[in-house]
Amino acid sequence: MSHSLVTMSYIVATILFIFSLSGLSNQETARRGNYYGMLGMAIAIIATTLSASVTSYAILIVALLIGGAIGARAALKVEMTQMPELVAIMHSLVGMAAVLVGYANFMDSSTNLSGVEKNIHEIEIYIGILIGAVTFSGSVIAFGKLSERISGKPLLLPGRHWFNLGLLIASIVLGWMFLQQTETGGGSLPLWIMTGIALVFGIHMVMAIGGADMPVVVSMLNSYSGWAAAATGFMLSNDLLIVTGALVGSSGAILSYIMCRAMNRNFISVIAGGFGTGSGGPEAIIEGEVTPISAEETAQLLLDAKNIMIIPGYGMAVAQAQHTVNEITKLLRDKGKKVGFGIHPVAGRMPGHMNVLLAEAKVPYDIVYEMDEINEDWAHVDVSIVIGANDIVNPSALDDPNSPIAGMPVLECWKGETTVVLKRSMASGYAGVGNPLFVLENTRMLFGDANATMQAVLKALKG
Ligand code: TAP
Repeated sequence: MSHSLVTMSYIVATILFIFSLSGLSNQETARRGNYYGMLGMAIAIIATTLSASVTSYAILIVALLIGGAIGARAALKVEMTQMPELVAIMHSLVGMAAVLVGYANFMDSSTNLSGVEKNIHEIEIYIGILIGAVTFSGSVIAFGKLSERISGKPLLLPGRHWFNLGLLIASIVLGWMFLQQTETGGGSLPLWIMTGIALVFGIHMVMAIGGADMPVVVSMLNSYSGWAAAATGFMLSNDLLIVTGALVGSSGAILSYIMCRAMNRNFISVIAGGFGTGSGGPEAIIEGEVTPISAEETAQLLLDAKNIMIIPGYGMAVAQAQHTVNEITKLLRDKGKKVGFGIHPVAGRMPGHMNVLLAEAKVPYDIVYEMDEINEDWAHVDVSIVIGANDIVNPSALDDPNSPIAGMPVLECWKGETTVVLKRSMASGYAGVGNPLFVLENTRMLFGDANATMQAVLKALKG
């Protein structure tokens, strides 16, 4: 393929990626956004494969087949609830690719650059390996935490901020040494030491983050992986990779910022790592009587109500209750009830998790509300049904300054007339915090698997 045709294809792919991102920002256009992204990626892969820079098709095809097979298998096998783990481990691969490309570039003796160009190329290699190694080890730890292979508890080393600062200064000094030594054909020792330091920094940064703040970390690593890809693009002189990496890096950074705002966290402290650890005081002890309710009584409550709000959480995803929930919604709306869905920005385990499930079950978009849209209106709600949600409806986030989720805005459903909470036990949610909502006077607990109880409610509504 001629150089100008490759460039043309890259421009088309870039435009498709931009359309993809803008499509993904809205539920109604998200599917189209995904198609644009897939088409853009297909064009990018074909153009790169056919470009003159490829020297061995045999190796390329074997690599494409192996990578494609692993990707397809992972995507087919993954449960919706494991999606964040998959995303985290994919980010680690982007990081690893940047490190490997960096070392390959460093060892490549065929590049004949000199003067400023040589220095720029070496800086690209150094920064590419640095970002790649942080992304790699941070994402592996994030994968471990999200899949509960590693404890979600934050690791708080004494003087950890000084430790991080020391690692940063060491990386800068090593960078300077690297540039000096490459003048005489050396430089591998500072590069190896910096790689070790970057790996330790990535591990330390994510280990120090408490469970409740993991969502921000996932989107932040998404951003890091974009910058790692952009750095790889610089090293390979591939414009498309630079642009795509920058798009992922900046959109990930914007998403991190939005999530920080949603969770009332400071963006800078997220970037620096080691946040979300609470103030360390005693947590509120939940005292009081729980009032259980049956599926039949819940159905009656719904039949007596005019204004109903459904709050889905992680448990709805685990129970796969969204289809039953949609059937109940249809039935209640046919009976003239006003039914809405209240979505917390970090409900579930990944951004947009609940929206995806509701869209899959074909819940109409216009009755799905964001937290900010409904938090003023709870006084008008007769019944709210909390389906497998916990942290996102925890009043202690607002009342208890010692809570690990203190300051996080929550769906204030307890301000409505009655709240029915569906879950299997009194267990805490992701953040591991007790929830005083369960013992409030106007709360009823409907225990059991969310899909089974929703089925029972549906049956009672029909009966
Ligand atoms: P959680 O606070 O994790 O609560 C989920 C609840 O669902 C649990 O208390 C569990 O109680 C219940 N549950 C589990 N399986 C169930 C089933 N089959 N049937 C019925 N209930 C079931 O979820 P949330 O309220 O959605 O809050 C999300 C949390 O995850 C936040 O802390 C957030 O920071 C964190 N997080 C979010 C993300 C993103 S980006 N959204 C990423 C990582 C972490 P039982 O065991 O008693 O049933």
